[in-house]
Amino acid sequence: MLRAKILSTGSSLPQRVLTNTELSQMVDTSNEWIVERTGISERRIADKDKATSDLAYEASKRALKAAGMKVSDISMIIVATISGDMSMPSTACFLQKRLNAKNACAFDVNAACSGFIYALSTANAFIRSGLHKNVLVVGAEILSRFTDWQDRSTCVLFGDGAGAVLLGAHRGKSGILSTHLYSDGNLWDLIQVPAGGSRMPASKDTVEERLHFIKMKGNETFKVAVKTLGSLVEMTLRHNGLSPSQLDLLIPHQANHRIIQAVASRLGLSMDKVVVNINKYGNTSAASIPIALDEAVCSGRIKKGDYILLESFGGGLTWASAMIKW
Ligand code: UT7
Repeated sequence: MLRAKILSTGSSLPQRVLTNTELSQMVDTSNEWIVERTGISERRIADKDKATSDLAYEASKRALKAAGMKVSDISMIIVATISGDMSMPSTACFLQKRLNAKNACAFDVNAACSGFIYALSTANAFIRSGLHKNVLVVGAEILSRFTDWQDRSTCVLFGDGAGAVLLGAHRGKSGILSTHLYSDGNLWDLIQVPAGGSRMPASKDTVEERLHFIKMKGNETFKVAVKTLGSLVEMTLRHNGLSPSQLDLLIPHQANHRIIQAVASRLGLSMDKVVVNINKYGNTSAASIPIALDEAVCSGRIKKGDYILLESFGGGLTWASAMIKW
């Protein structure tokens, strides 16, 4: 059976570390509150002269090197992001230019924190249909540019980074077994950047009212996330005829360690089967899963034949999962 297989991974994190202690000097918060309520100790912040495609480029270069693949072999580039270089053109086109990937079409996917799995699923469909052979899928964010550094309810959460995977067509039993995408636009207002689009174009007033920054109804989002993700992971396992005990690794979107633990406990999974790096990077939206996947690959946590479940939840609302046999 023709499947899409992850050939390699790569990631890129800015060097600058912003600690909870530094944040507590900027807004009314504390290291204790942030660690207890979110699991985050620090996050990375991109240098001023970097744009999202620069992080995407570094992550992609590493994935290309790890696969030993020539850039000219890539026929499609998909970047999942909500913090692209510009509203137009796409960040994927900037990445294509940087990579000199002349044979690739390139486009962005906006599904907020679920963006990476949406992009992976899109690539998977193109590969399984036989239309594309090698696809580069990237999740990249510089959320620090969209973060209101005066709003303690959001500024402690987000971070910058990028992760990339190279997918290749493959015949066999391993690869991406299934992907599952969901949305509920009725709940669009739980996480949003109100201004800067056609509904509320940028103006002096929108800037003064700080409407170009991420707004989130955190507690409401939290409750929907826990409920939704619990059913999502159970359904994904059921769909593949697997029991939780057969799962080798859960790689969740890193939004809150309490959400991650709730999902693991719903499946009866011990935390050593869950990849958690939210303590180091915070919530990097579409980048969190490919960064975590790359860390798991590089640290030798994944072996051939492993069943790996990816899951995410984010603005839109959107939620998504993917089951992979490595
Ligand atoms: O990635 C996309 C999806 N995103 C998520 O899934 C995020 C989901 N939400 C969350 O992770 C959590 O809701 C947060 C971490 C954002 C907030 O945690 P919470 O336990 O839901 O707190 P809360 O919003 O209910 O606020 C509790 C209290 C409030 O004070 P009062 O009203 O009880 O006096 C807040 O004002 O905590 C206060 N608070 C803070 N205190 C210290 C909010 N932010 C902070 C802060 N430092 N940074």
